[in-house]
Amino acid sequence: MKKILVSILLVCAAATVVAQRADYRIIPLPKSVETDTARVFPLRTGMGIAYDAGNPEVARNVQFLRQWVEELTGVKLALTPDDKKAAVRLTLGFPADKKVKKAKKGQPAAVLTEQQQEAYTITVNESGIQIAARNPIGFFRAAQTLRKSLPLTKNAQPTTLNSIDFPYVQIQDEPRFVYRGAHLDCARHFFSVEVVKQYLDLLALHGCNQFHWHFTEDQGWRFEVKALPELAKKGSVREQTVIGRNSGVYDGQRYGGYYTQEQCREIVNYAAERYINVIPEIDLPGHMQGALHVYPNLGCTGGPYPVWQIWGVSRDVLCAGNPETMTFLKTVIGELCDVFPSKYIHIGGDECPKVRWKECPKCQAKAKELGLKDDGKHSIENQLQTWINHEMEQYLKERGRDMIGWDEVLEGGLTEHGIVMSWRGINGGIEAAKQHHRVIMTPTDYCYIDYYQLKDQWGQPLGIGGYLPVSKVYSFEPLIPDQLSEEEQKYILGPQVNLWTEYVGVPQHVFYMLLPRLDAISEVQWCRSDQKDFEDFKTRLPRMKQLYDRMGVNYCHGLE
Ligand code: ACM
Ligand code: ZN
Repeated sequence: MKKILVSILLVCAAATVVAQRADYRIIPLPKSVETDTARVFPLRTGMGIAYDAGNPEVARNVQFLRQWVEELTGVKLALTPDDKKAAVRLTLGFPADKKVKKAKKGQPAAVLTEQQQEAYTITVNESGIQIAARNPIGFFRAAQTLRKSLPLTKNAQPTTLNSIDFPYVQIQDEPRFVYRGAHLDCARHFFSVEVVKQYLDLLALHGCNQFHWHFTEDQGWRFEVKALPELAKKGSVREQTVIGRNSGVYDGQRYGGYYTQEQCREIVNYAAERYINVIPEIDLPGHMQGALHVYPNLGCTGGPYPVWQIWGVSRDVLCAGNPETMTFLKTVIGELCDVFPSKYIHIGGDECPKVRWKECPKCQAKAKELGLKDDGKHSIENQLQTWINHEMEQYLKERGRDMIGWDEVLEGGLTEHGIVMSWRGINGGIEAAKQHHRVIMTPTDYCYIDYYQLKDQWGQPLGIGGYLPVSKVYSFEPLIPDQLSEEEQKYILGPQVNLWTEYVGVPQHVFYMLLPRLDAISEVQWCRSDQKDFEDFKTRLPRMKQLYDRMGVNYCHGLE
């Protein structure tokens, strides 16, 4: 009788172990993954994570890991910082680095690249899961890798595993590019702080480290400036919005919204905890009708200027000849620097029509005062814009920041230190790199994720046009090796995708446009070019989509 009871108990105990296997074939693919699929380490509920509890940054990343494992699988790990026998162990520093330092005693230490500073390793064997990183950021990257490797069920319900089988593995990883960006236009349409945080979560999941936050447009100004309280209050509101592609029919709905500085700081902190830098953009001197609505004296004609209700680019821009314009810009950019610690500040500079400047006595007087002459390559008005860029660059330098501008900043002659964001193809980027200026590659043909991603446009929400399938994003090679020498390639910081939102008004549509093209760009940003393989990428995507289902974010189901 006793025997039978013991047997029943044993059978019950065995039945309660619910395990599934982890799978390291994730996106972006780590630099090196050597798996021994024949052997697994079972990570069970109640097992511990050991780490340096005295380091709050490490502790935060451990919390992320623990939370993700529990949310996605149901396996609950204990925090046991001092337990040498814990199942998961985090160690700061690579043993190999110490050897290198010793060998070079007396010589200057080798300087690691920023990418090497992000490196991590994961080893799974009979003693558990060991994570090593040079810096806490590496633990975050490793935690994301493990998160994406977790077994997921198809439905949106939390799984109820109490054990995960981790195949033995040796993973070594670090990113390819130092700059791995994604942009969001929050000016054409306004997205809540919660949605921006969700966007950031997705960037972090894909190893992106730069969020380019586009704040201002003809259709709305969305950054609070305390010295100019009316600016965001009034400049953020358009009385109505045109329906579709400038159909001439309007929706009759007031539309607005802006971010307070407190909310911006909240986003900066949220992003920083996920190792993302937030680059704010105030687009100047064009795309300014939101501001001109509030300060019509800053326009060449004096207005009035309603916050724009249609799509496109307004011919009314800031008057370059009015000294108040520079005061306005320095006030705005000054507060922007107060709120955003980013080394990079984006001043836009794209699509600034010059019709008003050509006719404006103040602008022409300013050009004369500066001694600007058409040299056959740079028009007077383009040089006038360069003068504004130069003022901005100097002002930002005083604040210890570097200026980024869209590639139009090349047209009047590039300022001394300007970083070029190449969007009208790759030529601007090539020209800038040849001039030894830093470049971020965002050409429309590969990086404009406001374009349709499937051929069947009618089956998708209305978009701006174009066609940019996942495969095309994936095929991008940002270093342009056939046109740039190895030395020139060093000026390419990295690629970025841009999401403009004229036709993207709701969060579901934002994520539909982003995913899975973010997966594709993440491999361009993270993986060596010889590692990339679209057919293999496609086999790894379904698990990412399962993760999006579990995260509750929308994505495009088609794949071309
Ligand atoms: C841009 O797409 N106008 C930079
Ligand atoms: Zn003017």
